[in-house]
Amino acid sequence: MVYLLHRFFGRDGREEADAMLERYSGDANHPRILGAFNERTPDWLAFFMFTYFTDRDGKFQLSALAESSFDPLARTTRFMLIEEAHHMFVVESGVSRIVPRTCEVMQMLGTDDPAWIRAAGAIDLPTIQRYLNFQYSVTIDLFGADHSSNAATFYSTGIKGRYEEDKRTDDHVLKDRTCPILGVENGELRSRDVSKLNALNEVLRDDFINDSIAGVGRWNRVIERAGYDFRLQVPHKAFHRKIGPLSATHVSPEGQLINEAAWKSREADWLPTTQDRAFVASLMGRMVEPGKFASWIAPPARGINNQPVNFEYIRFN
Ligand SMILES: [Fe+2]
Repeated sequence: MVYLLHRFFGRDGREEADAMLERYSGDANHPRILGAFNERTPDWLAFFMFTYFTDRDGKFQLSALAESSFDPLARTTRFMLIEEAHHMFVVESGVSRIVPRTCEVMQMLGTDDPAWIRAAGAIDLPTIQRYLNFQYSVTIDLFGADHSSNAATFYSTGIKGRYEEDKRTDDHVLKDRTCPILGVENGELRSRDVSKLNALNEVLRDDFINDSIAGVGRWNRVIERAGYDFRLQVPHKAFHRKIGPLSATHVSPEGQLINEAAWKSREADWLPTTQDRAFVASLMGRMVEPGKFASWIAPPARGINNQPVNFEYIRFN
């Protein structure tokens, strides 16, 4: 965006670009606007969850801009999407290697008891689920308010489109169309119809949700093949939200509206605790011996550029 402002909008553009960089980089006194980018990623599990969910947000925001009627913006973002695909690949070599290792340890020990799994240096599935719940919920907040007149303006003026606009069969104008969004009515979670133009953040959030569920399904097939009933799942859309009307509520991962006391009593089952984070941090050691892997992650199926796993990428001649 900064590049486009410099390239196409003269002096106004350059000033706006400076202000934009200030706003987005943030410091201790002025945290970045987008919450998920302020969360700490101190260990590899947090990092891989970040790349899986939060980088995928990047893919969707860029895909919406790739539909822009301002051609330089559309072309730049299409180009950036190529790099984003590589980020998506990184995660495939992350969580997709942690889950098999956990399953392997469960089979080896003949138990899924988290205490035993942890003692063997692997990350138990409930802890992986809590990390997933956290990263998923802070990421879906990034799509913005469920009901947004800005989103309508961006769309109607052609700055942004929807994800894969060309695959949609409606009129692409969306006047008089509606879309359901979630809210609380008489102490219950209910969806109500609002103008689709104002709900475009929600439309993009739903596209993101559908896309992220696919990978979780792949992790679950590994657990299923290992013979265990546990299934990882993305929590309900209203779980642990900090943006929009849902931020005023407490909702369980299953989508049950609950009170503050119930939330407090279950929070440690649903979100990573200080102890969880300390445990995962305790696993983060150096493993530099060729052919050996840390106790919490399986070897990759193949090396980078399809080389064997033990390929000598760096030679010290
Ligand atoms: Fe990315």
